[in-house]
Amino acid sequence: DEPTSEKLVELAKRRGYFFQSSGSYGGVGGFYTFGPQGAALKGNVEDAWRDRFAVAEGNMEIDAPTIMPEPVFEASGHLEGFDDMLVECPDCGESHRADHVVEDNTDYEDAESLPIPDVEEVIAEYELVCPSCGTGLAGQAVEAFNLMFATNIGPGDSQPGYLRPETAQGIFVEFPRLKEYARNQLPFGVTQIGRAYRNEISPRRSIIRTREFTQAELEYFIDPEADDPDLEAVADVEVTLYPASEQNDEDGDELETTIGDAVSEGVIGDEWVAYFLGVAKPWYDAVGVDMDRFRFRQHLAGERAHYAADCWDAESEIDGNWIELAGFAYRGQYDLSKHAEHSGDRFTVFRQYDEPQTVERASVDPDMSYLGPEFGGDARAIVEELEALAGRNRSAFESGPVEIDLEGEAHEIPVEKTGFAVEEETIAGEHVIPHVVEPSFGVDRLVYTVLHHAYREDEVDGESRTHLELEPEVAPTFAGVFPLQNDADLEAQSRAIASDLREVGLSVTYDDSGNIGRRYRRQDEVGTPFCVTVDYETIEDDATTVTVRERDTTAQKRLPVADLAETLSAIRAG
Ligand code: GAP
Repeated sequence: DEPTSEKLVELAKRRGYFFQSSGSYGGVGGFYTFGPQGAALKGNVEDAWRDRFAVAEGNMEIDAPTIMPEPVFEASGHLEGFDDMLVECPDCGESHRADHVVEDNTDYEDAESLPIPDVEEVIAEYELVCPSCGTGLAGQAVEAFNLMFATNIGPGDSQPGYLRPETAQGIFVEFPRLKEYARNQLPFGVTQIGRAYRNEISPRRSIIRTREFTQAELEYFIDPEADDPDLEAVADVEVTLYPASEQNDEDGDELETTIGDAVSEGVIGDEWVAYFLGVAKPWYDAVGVDMDRFRFRQHLAGERAHYAADCWDAESEIDGNWIELAGFAYRGQYDLSKHAEHSGDRFTVFRQYDEPQTVERASVDPDMSYLGPEFGGDARAIVEELEALAGRNRSAFESGPVEIDLEGEAHEIPVEKTGFAVEEETIAGEHVIPHVVEPSFGVDRLVYTVLHHAYREDEVDGESRTHLELEPEVAPTFAGVFPLQNDADLEAQSRAIASDLREVGLSVTYDDSGNIGRRYRRQDEVGTPFCVTVDYETIEDDATTVTVRERDTTAQKRLPVADLAETLSAIRAG
């Protein structure tokens, strides 16, 4: 039997969900256009995400540029470390991602547990072959390939820029402004839904791995010493977890548990990550991911991104493969401290103490110019060295003389000449760099999963039919309105009903082409939850009732026209 994915990709193109871009020019790998149905479905999924992760959580949403200057990515570590391992076939010349080579050599059974850094050895040892032409790859060099798309900002090449590989950086770099909008109070969250770009070595599986895609990200800023999540709110959420310990164990298995138990038993180490897993699970369910084909998998130590201390992925099963839908990472202070260091801007918030605290502060004489001539005139260097020493190691000043190092040469300075003093000071708080917890969702993969999990084939009146059991909340077209036959009165009545339904915000298509059975099939394939048919009874009845057909059961009911907008709107709203 043909895998659902192949049938889905064909349906997606035929019915306007998605298709490869620039087809007139032969298409280019890794770029897809969402057609009218796809754009509407994606928009509905994004709206549902915004409702849950921005609005309901009280977070702020921003919209930052997709091109950022080089220093941003020097600081974030992407320039240095955002690489995939590439291997080129000596025969056909195609480049492959090294881990895909391993995955695609299906008789190499341990593919999934491959530690990526050892890939060169694995290719040699298991005599793996090129996935495109079958030539042996043993002995081929495996190289690091940076995934960022580079560009120039303005004419010439004096200001290099990059298309952002994650929307997150657009949030981190604006932290000094964003914290003001949050009135300098932790915790607070900032969301962004937007495009990200990665020059993937081998884009694959249609919209699952592309070179331009949409992320919906939340960067949640916390003070780990002061802020706790509302775990009560998600404690009873049932989850399937696949922790690293189980993946490392030959007999390991997924665990069926609750967020509350997983935290108390230490399966999920970080409470904030646990909180967001608990929020995400029912949300994925509501937009139409099949919960029997959904789990959270913890990253193995070797898999984590350069910034992540711990990470769990949401995964969905597609034709027997698990794909990553989202990552929930504990990024710690990594990003904000890097941007603070590289930009010199203030990436801190003020942590107010419950009670003012008295602290001792050690200082030295800020003017030691009189000592300058003795050390080649560099009094400033002496002060800096002594200040650093006073902050670090006060005992160095307790019994003199003080030893410092100036340009590799050791010097001794009598304690009384340093002006060393310890003073008491009352402070109300301190400046701290917040920690970041990051739920990062891929929208395209989710759209793919929603379609795949909604795909059904059944038989109606002895004929096979394909339909998409999309949730009414996200279905791109909510209702089709049809005149039963080509008849001016039926058509006029149908158009009037369609326009009434559009007026209450429902997305409605009017269709009078082909026989009624074909029109139903067309809407079934698009996943339209309801079809409204205007027939002669409607007219005879003084336009008081219509037939409403439900997509999944194909059951039909007569409903009063007067109630139609209200009844359907209530279903759409869930
Ligand atoms: N800011 C964190 C971050 O970007 P990631 O795991 O690299 O983390 C987050 O990406 C999500 O973005 C993934 O879980 C996936 O859903 C989506 N994603 C990543 N690369 C993708 C690609 N090439 N095509 C489609 N979606 C992708």
